[in-house]
Amino acid sequence: MKVVYFLVVILALTSSVVSAYDPSPLQDFCVAAKEKDGVFVNGKFCKDPKLVKAEDFFRHVEPGKTDNPVGSNVTQVFVDQLPGLNTLGIALARIDFAPKGLNAPHTHPRGTEILIVLEGTLYVGFVTSNQDGNRLFTKVLNKGDVFVFPIGLIHFQLNVGYGNAAAIAALSSQNPGAITIANALFKANPPISSEVLTKAFQVDKSIIDYLQKQSWYDNNN
Ligand SMILES: *[C@@H]1O[C@H](CO)[C@@H](O)[C@H](O)[C@H]1NC(C)=O
Repeated sequence: MKVVYFLVVILALTSSVVSAYDPSPLQDFCVAAKEKDGVFVNGKFCKDPKLVKAEDFFRHVEPGKTDNPVGSNVTQVFVDQLPGLNTLGIALARIDFAPKGLNAPHTHPRGTEILIVLEGTLYVGFVTSNQDGNRLFTKVLNKGDVFVFPIGLIHFQLNVGYGNAAAIAALSSQNPGAITIANALFKANPPISSEVLTKAFQVDKSIIDYLQKQSWYDNNN
């Protein structure tokens, strides 16, 4: 009997892996419970449904403060901020921009992003993978415009208008993750050896040393 259960579990796991990034829910909801000493699972534990309340599905979001070196602020509404998202395969972020503010090149390893501009003018783009020749797709977006960034690809948004800008991004995972390229490379902890970076960027070691000493700013963590 145990062997049968084991096979069923393996089949369930493999089929969900090929069909989606977040497994399809097997119940109406599975509100994330805070579990400190539990085992690591692919998602969060469910709160007892009898204890679930409307607040578990609710979050209020204010514009983020943009007085920082990149002039932007990403306010995440992922499963950590909104427990009701657990197992649902969706999340959201609000992005605010000061004039010239940049949401620096980054990727979401687990999610496609679709963006709508609420206010202002954004120059946005993404770069395709090596096999596609690292092609760059860009567009200038105004209020009401929608753009999609395919899963895993490096993308950015720059405020090219005269005033502030704001956008809402929806993501196809409860926990899409974010890797900001400059930070991941030049501010890794512990640091990536300058031998690796010098060769990778084909520049003088002094440039890499300089870059590693910069206080890279992450508005996206
Ligand atoms: C983003 O905005 C929030 C809310 O105003 C603020 O607490 C936070 O420090 C800001 N983050 C950055 C990176 O500026």
